[in-house]
Amino acid sequence: MISSLLSPFNLGNRELKNRMFAAPPPSLTCDFNGMVTADTVDYYQRLAETGVGAVIVEGAAISATAKAWVRHLDITSPDALPGLSQLTEKIRRGGALPIIQLYHGGFNSIPVAGKKPYGPGRPALKKITAEIRPLSHEMIDQIIRDYAAAAMMAWNAGFSGIELQAADGSLAQQFLSPLTNSRDDEYGIKNAYGAMFARQAIRVIKSVTPDLALFMRISMKDLLPGGTSLHQAISMAKLFKQEGVDIFHVTEGLITGNPLLIHPAVGKNAPESPFSEDAQIFRIEVKHPLILSGKIGRPTNADHKIARDFCDFVSMGRTINRSPGWPSYAHNLDDFSNKLPCLRCKVCVAASKGCPDRHIPFARIL
Ligand SMILES: Cc1cc2nc3c(=O)[nH]c(=O)nc-3n(C[C@H](O)[C@H](O)[C@H](O)COP(=O)(O)O)c2cc1C
Ligand code: SF4
Repeated sequence: MISSLLSPFNLGNRELKNRMFAAPPPSLTCDFNGMVTADTVDYYQRLAETGVGAVIVEGAAISATAKAWVRHLDITSPDALPGLSQLTEKIRRGGALPIIQLYHGGFNSIPVAGKKPYGPGRPALKKITAEIRPLSHEMIDQIIRDYAAAAMMAWNAGFSGIELQAADGSLAQQFLSPLTNSRDDEYGIKNAYGAMFARQAIRVIKSVTPDLALFMRISMKDLLPGGTSLHQAISMAKLFKQEGVDIFHVTEGLITGNPLLIHPAVGKNAPESPFSEDAQIFRIEVKHPLILSGKIGRPTNADHKIARDFCDFVSMGRTINRSPGWPSYAHNLDDFSNKLPCLRCKVCVAASKGCPDRHIPFARIL
């Protein structure tokens, strides 16, 4: 009997109808300017209709230099507002709360006009061979203003919450890892584990959109020698909580390329929810609501993790891509028993088109 996964949760003045979130892998459905298309609207409406409590819309680039992939969703141009508003309307109509992730790719951004990318400083990580220019204080101030403008746009479009992306190789994570932040100023690792940049971003988002729930996607460990440890991530999170983060959305790994190819939760043989034990320690120490991400597996596993206080919520990316009926199986476990689990293929690019392994479009699995 599933009960914890299906129990509602009060998020300020909003109610989440259950503990399931659709995670935000990019749908790759925007046009080449990052504008929402009919495919984008269709994709998010269908995600909402799966029965999740909230849909986190893919990382929206907070400036032209923040984009890290082709067809990256834009949240800066006034032209983007009608499309974003359509997304919130369709997600709500589908029965879920609309949340949007704010993203800056830092040195993982696509070079603009052939210029070298910017990051916190020269990375210590040997596998990063690109030449990276350190951000000046003026540039950092501008990026913080970009977060504020993007948050206002999210508010105007009708989102219920904002997620600050500080994991998955984003600029905020680049500041938080000793492997990618070599600065010796106040933005450096020696000052509260490099938390200053993310703290400023949280502060500015909270100040312009105080009524929106603020989520933070954060990595609990770099999983690389010399990288951020669980202990350090917990110390940072306590600071972020003080700044106003309402819910942490946790993952692991310092990802500096395609997450599919190097993420530890990717392998077929990884156990169900491989990050859950670290998440439990993180949650106990930080004393704050937490979304667990990564190979959640069966609805019974998700329910168990919530009931046993490993987490408060779960989020699914490929899990729902493979099985759009997953949230409904939580209501009827017999339906789930004969479903094939996600195979954790090395290449899974077209979230909007459904699991390519099944050769069935997302729309038709439902
Ligand atoms: C191709 C790909 C790209 C992703 N990009 C993002 C991203 O930009 N932001 C993010 O928060 N998560 C991203 N993720 C992670 C997912 O949101 C999710 O947390 C992860 O896939 C674990 O869930 P799953 O095991 O159900 O796939 C990405 C995942 C994949 C597969
Ligand atoms: S292609 Fe299908 S089976 Fe493979 S990782 Fe993606 S969702 Fe899972």
